[in-house]
Amino acid sequence: MKKIPVILDGDPGHDDAIAWVLANSRQELVILAVTTVGGNQTLAKTTYNAGRVMSLIGLDVPRAAGRAKPLLCDLIVAPGVHGVTGLDGPGLPEPARDIVEEEAVELMARLLETSDEPIVLVPTGPLTNIASLLLLRPDLKEKIKHIYMMGGGITKGNWTAAAEFNILVDPEAADIVFRSGLPITMAGLDVTEKALVHPEDIERIRSVGNEIARIVAGWLEFFYQFHQPLGYEGAPVHDAVAIVAIVRPDLLTMCEMYVEVELIGEYTRGATVGDIYGYLGRKPNVTCIMDIDREAFIDLLVESVASYGEVTLG
Ligand code: RIB
Ligand code: CA
Repeated sequence: MKKIPVILDGDPGHDDAIAWVLANSRQELVILAVTTVGGNQTLAKTTYNAGRVMSLIGLDVPRAAGRAKPLLCDLIVAPGVHGVTGLDGPGLPEPARDIVEEEAVELMARLLETSDEPIVLVPTGPLTNIASLLLLRPDLKEKIKHIYMMGGGITKGNWTAAAEFNILVDPEAADIVFRSGLPITMAGLDVTEKALVHPEDIERIRSVGNEIARIVAGWLEFFYQFHQPLGYEGAPVHDAVAIVAIVRPDLLTMCEMYVEVELIGEYTRGATVGDIYGYLGRKPNVTCIMDIDREAFIDLLVESVASYGEVTLG
């Protein structure tokens, strides 16, 4: 099987971490690097968390810190959701390696430039790094095979009534990415809020019995603590759906849509406005994921954590 080269870009973040556990367990993927961005927590915290997750799962690839703040606005962080550290909950090993000297966009540019094949980008946080890459090196667009992102929501928001967190943190960056002409698959809230891990699923994951299973179950429990009082039946593992879109698209229901990002609405800034019925007659720019086979998704997570041998915390 020809492996798919990917760069993981995120703001770990419990669901980023679970997405990376899943990605790292899949034979279809070869992870070239991990880059971080300010989002769920400050860049320093998301970069430290990325190192801890990589150390835990034995992912020994370059790790680079990216943009600390959005292109034009101030950073919003989410301590109420992910905790003061950005990845509160189970103890984790320290990063096995320091970050590389290159800034994230420089690292992404070098990998794209030197790769003998196009690379898939998987942003699961605000799109600041991706937009910065496109602004700085538009010549490298041809080396970007596909962008599988978590963000947005055609029918809903989660940080405001209209906007999802990743897009709202940096709407200008999202606008640049959505206008890029690159193939984009968007795992928005329409599907990610169906990617729910129920309490019984958490126990099923924990019962796998290795260290990864115990830690992933701990992350899910922490994440569910925020969501349960809001009426969620489980923890929505938003970011993992971006990985599912690459390795098991058969579990998903998707549609092509023209989507634009609202930048100036007093109540709607950061909304991803999807032309569901094609009123505008514009060529679709996004493959929008709208549904998921939740049971099969849980099986995928269980299979993923079971694929790790007994991991001794570093
Ligand atoms: O709205 C959910 C998204 O915001 C996820 O990527 C989560 O990690 C946070 O970044
Ligand atoms: Ca994230």
